[in-house]
Amino acid sequence: MTDAEQPAAEPSLVAGAHDRRGVFEVGERIQLTDPKGRLHTITLEPGREFHTHRGFLRHDDLIGSHDGSVVTNTAGVEYLALRPLLSDYVMSMPRGAAVVYPKDSGQIVQMADIFPGATVVEAGVGSGALSMSLLRAIGEHGRLLSFERREDFADIARGNGRAFFGGDHPAWTVTVGDLVESLPAVAPPGTVDRVVLDMLAPWECLEAVSEALIPGGVLICYVATTTQLSRVAEGIRAHGGFTEPSAWESLVRGWHLEGLAVRPQHRMHGHTGFLITTRRLAPGVVPPERKRRPAKGAYGDTADVGSTEQDGSGPASTGIDGGPVVVPGSTASTDIPADAWTPEALGERVKSDKTIRRVRRSLAETSDDIG
Ligand SMILES: C[S@@+](CC[C@H](N)C(=O)[O-])C[C@H]1O[C@@H](n2cnc3c(N)ncnc32)[C@H](O)[C@@H]1O
Repeated sequence: MTDAEQPAAEPSLVAGAHDRRGVFEVGERIQLTDPKGRLHTITLEPGREFHTHRGFLRHDDLIGSHDGSVVTNTAGVEYLALRPLLSDYVMSMPRGAAVVYPKDSGQIVQMADIFPGATVVEAGVGSGALSMSLLRAIGEHGRLLSFERREDFADIARGNGRAFFGGDHPAWTVTVGDLVESLPAVAPPGTVDRVVLDMLAPWECLEAVSEALIPGGVLICYVATTTQLSRVAEGIRAHGGFTEPSAWESLVRGWHLEGLAVRPQHRMHGHTGFLITTRRLAPGVVPPERKRRPAKGAYGDTADVGSTEQDGSGPASTGIDGGPVVVPGSTASTDIPADAWTPEALGERVKSDKTIRRVRRSLAETSDDIG
């Protein structure tokens, strides 16, 4: 049988194109753009109406319409109706924890080399935004093993995933628990291709991650502050089982396009987070000596950086007297106590328990409708 004669692969009803094509169906989330460019997301239900202070729109007028249709409400206001792209969806979906923005998810998928069929470990899951991009990249024949400490957040993430994919994605397993404690039971040593950490203290997970990764496997961490970035970079170096880390941030500036007024938009997301990557060395391999020494004083005045570099044991995470290294001019240091790294201390806006309960309940109701 030639390739051309092979029967076409059965399209997946959950992970594949099924939900991304065709006319609008009952239960789908649809994005409406009004004449002022404002976005409204609705879930299609027969007999239901979408009301604004200027008239209302019948869901029935949308059900069965093509993606990209224009519908008019009772007051003559026109709305453009589109199926949300994944990047639209994650920005408007219900949240427990802060989400990874699409610009960073795109970088993570590319720079961590997330490939179809890969086994990927992710922690924490939060609201599930990054999980969805990872699932898209690995496809239904990969495995995404996600870990989340908080059961309520895990429920919110599962609910968001179900609402986007139209059911449970076949490649996704969410484990409720701490990554360090739960990972060995879920992933035997040396079986994981890629690890993605989005959490307050990724340095606490380096040993567990190094056990799980295949030689050459990629670790990528997303952190919100330079203090975390410094701590995880030093942790990676001190571990000794990883390559020299590299870090960056990306800034995306939208453009205003209006006749001759073509210029950057006035507003932008000035800061989301930093990314840092490294790769797992083969077992027993010592990282090559760094040819370029860190600048004098980079590890604090007392650290004997030169000698630690020369003997191949990696840069100092302790000073010459065994004391902690303090990064001059900042509060980042390897001696900050573990319980000091809280969401509040790192400037996160934390949602109240009441809000989390409401989001979790609404997603549970949506999941019931799906299935
Ligand atoms: C910022 S949120 C993740 C957001 C997620 N990437 C998204 O795009 O929606 C960080 C999450 O990590 C979880 N977390 C922190 N440390 C963890 C650990 N050691 N194991 C598992 N989950 C952890 C927190 O409970 C929190 O929900």
